Formats: sequence, structure tokens, C-alpha cells
Amino acid sequence: MSQRLVVIGSQWGDEGKGKITDYFACRADMVVRYQGGNNAGHSVMFNGKKYSLQSIPSGIFNPATINIMGNGMVINPESVVLELQKLKDQGISDYKLYISDRATMVMPWHSDLDGAYECIKGGKLIGTTKKGIGPAYSDKYNRIGLRMGDMLEPEYFAERLAAALEVKNKELEMLGLKPYDYKIVFDRYMELADILGSMIIDTSALINKELREEGKKILFEGAQGMMLCIDHGTYPYVTSSTPSAASVPVGAGIAPHWIDNVLGVAKAYCTRVGEGPFPTELHDEIAHEIRERGHEYGTVTGRPRRIGWFDAVIARYTSRLAGINSWSLMLFDVLSGLETVKICTHYELDGKVVDTPPSTISKFARCKPVYIELPGWKEDISGIRNYDDLPEAAKVYVKKIEEITQVPVGVISVGPDRTQTIIISDTLKNF
Ligand code: IMP
Repeated sequence: MSQRLVVIGSQWGDEGKGKITDYFACRADMVVRYQGGNNAGHSVMFNGKKYSLQSIPSGIFNPATINIMGNGMVINPESVVLELQKLKDQGISDYKLYISDRATMVMPWHSDLDGAYECIKGGKLIGTTKKGIGPAYSDKYNRIGLRMGDMLEPEYFAERLAAALEVKNKELEMLGLKPYDYKIVFDRYMELADILGSMIIDTSALINKELREEGKKILFEGAQGMMLCIDHGTYPYVTSSTPSAASVPVGAGIAPHWIDNVLGVAKAYCTRVGEGPFPTELHDEIAHEIRERGHEYGTVTGRPRRIGWFDAVIARYTSRLAGINSWSLMLFDVLSGLETVKICTHYELDGKVVDTPPSTISKFARCKPVYIELPGWKEDISGIRNYDDLPEAAKVYVKKIEEITQVPVGVISVGPDRTQTIIISDTLKNF
């Protein structure tokens, strides 16, 4: 029987999933992305070099690992080609990569429309990455999407493209944007089919085969974070997919019973990019210090990230929704040097104590954090590799998170490099 591990973001994205996925990818036989697209920005650092990935799975650096871009993703083939070229320029060209024939494509008009919708929303911007993710998922559910496998059948693709453009060009013109020329798009996608064609397969069949093999290790790599979930996040300030472990079965094409080990990636504090409520947000010198020390600037957009204290209300909520078995506590070293550290245990909303996020952002924006305050620690912990060697105050902080969230901490990250990782959980040590 195989071993499965799902790694998901449990806050607002950018929790450091790239690093931790890469850590486990080194031992994995297969790494699968199952939702989102090139709106994700995963940074991976090893051998002193920094790599950034957007739509390509984090197992790409290990020549033996099979990497899958699953059917639940929205994939921009142009950007896949660019990402592969960038990796090649950095010396990464020996890999195994497969793309689902059922994944919806992000077409050039989707990014145009993403930008245009943001403008016509006036002051109420979502702050999207403008990669066309929302418009691509909308077309998928409106059944006018084009899928990766369509490109492999030119006549079929021609029909689907003509049908899509009939609608999309009208929409573009209505919004004052330039329509697309059928022939130019068709020819370019035939070129892309030539480049990527050999990678486009029925990935569900391949994953299911691997699942049944003795001793295989399969990693499912989530993108974004649970609070950006289209269903359970801070709607409408969310992405257009479900970053939860719950979407692995659909987005990878496997049965739900295979999902039994979920690692929730959480920063030791909290960050958010884009708009939307953020109860523990800080606007003081501490925010500035954490932002600079943690290099808290978006990988995709370069925007400074908003900074706040660890929010256990969110942590409890996301662990309940996604079945998180253990936490991977990231950027723990960034908190060193602070006089005191805080954890938000509850909110106060209109005079009442609440312990789960409300459904509307108007209420969420009124939630005031209730904190416990703990002593900080001064020591540089970036060289520590064993839990027992952490300063006492840092251990108290970890224990408090476990106690308040009722979920054990299985991994602690003390720096960006692969080696700067403390594995506490025995199950994870064996993966
Ligand atoms: P979209 O996914 O581009 O539609 O953007 C919707 C919201 O999700 C915006 O607030 C983005 O900043 C946020 N978002 C999308 N992808 C990521 C990510 O990988 N990390 C953090 N935030 C993200």
C-alpha cells in the first residue's frame, strides 16, 4: 500500500508550502497539484539557490519524482512553457512532468477579463493576481472552457475554440477590450500542443496506479490557503478554487478514502496579500520587523504582505474543515528577538465572544482579536535541528498552539533552506 500526504495552506496562502512540499518531495515518488494555477508562487531554496514555481509541482527538482498537474487545476500553457524555460536556464531539465488532459486551460482573454473585472468593481477590488484564474474557472463551470486534452485533437479544438470565442469576444468588446482573432489563437495553440503534447495524459489513471503500489509515497500539493477557499474563505476576497484536502479527490481524480494524512502549513504568525478582513493584522513597528525579516513580499506580484499575529480561531476552523492531522509551523525563526509574542484565541464580535469565523466579511471585519501574550525568546534558532534544543519560551509557544488548536505540531521550519527543518512527528519522519 502507498503512503499519502496532503500538504495544504491553512491561512491566506504564502505559508511556505513550497519549502515543505519540496522537503517531502525529495522522498516522494509522485507530487500532485490538484487546484489553482499560476496564481500560486512557491519558493524553494536548496544548495544556496532560490527557485520559484507557479503552476509546476514542487517535485520538479528531483529527477526520479513523477510530477502531476491534475484535472482540478486551471493551466496556462504559455506560462508552463515559460516556467520550464526558466527552470532550464537554472539547470533543471531532467524531470518527469505530466499534465491532465481534463485540466481547464487559462486562455489569453482570461487575464484580460481578470483585469477588467477588477477595474469595474471600482473601489471594491479583490486584489487578484490578474492571472485569469477566476475567469477560467467561471468558463469551466459555464461549460465553455477549453481543456488541455482538446489541443491534441485539432478538429475538436477548432470547434471548441470557435464556440468559446463567439461568447468571449462579445464579452471583451462589451468591456471595451480587444477581441481575439480565431486563426492566430488556433495556430499558437497548435504550436503549444507540439511543445507540451507528450506530457498531456489521463493523469488520474497514472495516480491511481501509483496509489495501489506497495511502498510508494505520494504527495498532494495544495496551493493558496484555506482562508482563500471559494466556499469557506473570506468571500468574496478569495480565490476561485478549494485549497482544502477535501478537493484532492476531485482535483486529482481519486477516491476520497485515500486521503488520511493532512499536514496544515501555517506561519508562526499570519500574513495576507490582497484585500479582505484580517482580524490579527498589525500596523506597528512589529509588523515592519516581521515583514523585513520574513521577506514578506509576494512571489507572484511583489506586493508587501499584510502581517498579523497567529490566529488560532482560523487554525481551529481550517483544521475542522480540512481534517488537519498536524501542523507544519513555518518561519518560526522570524519571531526570535521579539519581547513578547501573541496568539489570538477568540474574537469579540459586537460584545460577544466567538470562536469561529462569521460567514460575512462585514461581521468578520468587526471581529476584534482576543489574545494571550507569552514571553518571546532572543536566541537565533535558525541552526537548531532538534525540538529539544529550542529555547524554553519557543517550546511554550509551540505547546500553546497545540493546546489551543487541539492539533499537534509535526514540523517546525527555522529557515528557508531544506536543511532548516525540525521534524517532530514520527509519521512524517517515516514519509
Ligand atoms: P486570484 O486567485 O488571482 O483570483 O486572486 C484572488 C485572491 O487570492 C487575491 O487576494 C490573491 O492575492 C489571493 N491569492 C491567489 N493566489 C495566492 C497565493 O498563492 N498566495 C497568496 N494569495 C493568493
